[in-house]
Amino acid sequence: MKTVKWGIIGAGRISSTFATALNSLDNTELVAIASRDMEKAKEFADRFHIKKAYSSYDEIVKDPEIDVIYIGTLHTEHKANTELCIMNGKSVLCEKPFTINHKETEYLMNLAKKNKVFLMEAMWTKFLPATKVVKKWLQENIIGEVKYFNLSFGYQAEFDINSRIFNPDLAGGALLDVGVYLISYVIYMMDKLPDHVASSAFLGRSNVDETNVIAFSYNEGVMADLSSSITANTGNDAVIIGEKGKIVVPSFWRAESAEVYDQKGKLIDKFLLPFTSNGYVYEAEEVNCCIREGKLESDVIPLQDTLNVMKIMDEMRATWGLTYPQERNK
Ligand SMILES: NC(=O)c1ccc[n+]([C@@H]2O[C@H](COP(=O)([O-])OP(=O)(O)OC[C@H]3O[C@@H](n4cnc5c(N)ncnc54)[C@H](OP(=O)(O)O)[C@@H]3O)[C@@H](O)[C@H]2O)c1
Repeated sequence: MKTVKWGIIGAGRISSTFATALNSLDNTELVAIASRDMEKAKEFADRFHIKKAYSSYDEIVKDPEIDVIYIGTLHTEHKANTELCIMNGKSVLCEKPFTINHKETEYLMNLAKKNKVFLMEAMWTKFLPATKVVKKWLQENIIGEVKYFNLSFGYQAEFDINSRIFNPDLAGGALLDVGVYLISYVIYMMDKLPDHVASSAFLGRSNVDETNVIAFSYNEGVMADLSSSITANTGNDAVIIGEKGKIVVPSFWRAESAEVYDQKGKLIDKFLLPFTSNGYVYEAEEVNCCIREGKLESDVIPLQDTLNVMKIMDEMRATWGLTYPQERNK
């Protein structure tokens, strides 16, 4: 089997987690890291036993040994970093949110297609075994007709205008940081886009959405009640209610387990598979498979799905009056 050779752009927090995942996979080699700071790149390379450290993103994309690059930089850098990779013929796995708005996503989709380069959003939740089991349960009608989803993803962060979650210049706010998980999850489970979307948000001290609430409705009578926050510990479980029972997914975005209950609250099925390394191995394996098979997109998260989610987020932000500085005067 071909060993897939990876590079990473950005030596930050999530890149560290992803490096751990890559290092735990067979037939996978993490060959290079690029940071804007050579010291940081070297420290990262030492920590994860990576043979090459680059002090610029321009250098790593020229490395002929690399098949695919993981982008673990800030939201606002994703478009430029992905573009750089594509223009140098590198396949890309780019962190969520894929870009800051749908126009950027559409641009990258078209660029990847034109240049025949593999491109995928790192929406890792979709690849988790627990997520797959929940989808299978729904397809098997285990809880009967689905009526209602209730998902939240909220945590309480201390206000810091310089942090990527509060700073509008870095496309801060709950929606792009964590709300994106809720939207992707429900659309994935329903296998279609909502017919109506309503939402409201509190734009806080730095004029980004500190908390938002979102209602999806489907014409057949399914409702989804979603909320995300960077200032309130709302929890991060998913509950799916059907006419015969419910599915509960603790910490759905990084789920290792899921449970099914009947209408009387009796546990009728359960899934549990603790991660051996971490939950990011599943998306990495998907990319490895796609690269080996010469695919340009993943069937699990085609680029159109990413674009659909970005469009919904743009439409909600428009109703909240939330634009990022990069989007003004364009
Ligand atoms: N999938 C998940 O579970 C998950 C979890 C957390 C975050 N994320 C996503 O991953 C991305 C990074 O988040 P993080 O928490 O890892 O952030 P972080 O620790 O702050 O790292 C971000 C990296 O971005 C790079 N960067 C490029 N241009 C920059 C600029 N102008 N200012 C500051 N940094 C810049 C830096 O890399 P160098 O300095 O090394 O060049 C930095 O290390 C975000 O888009 C976030 O949504 C995903």
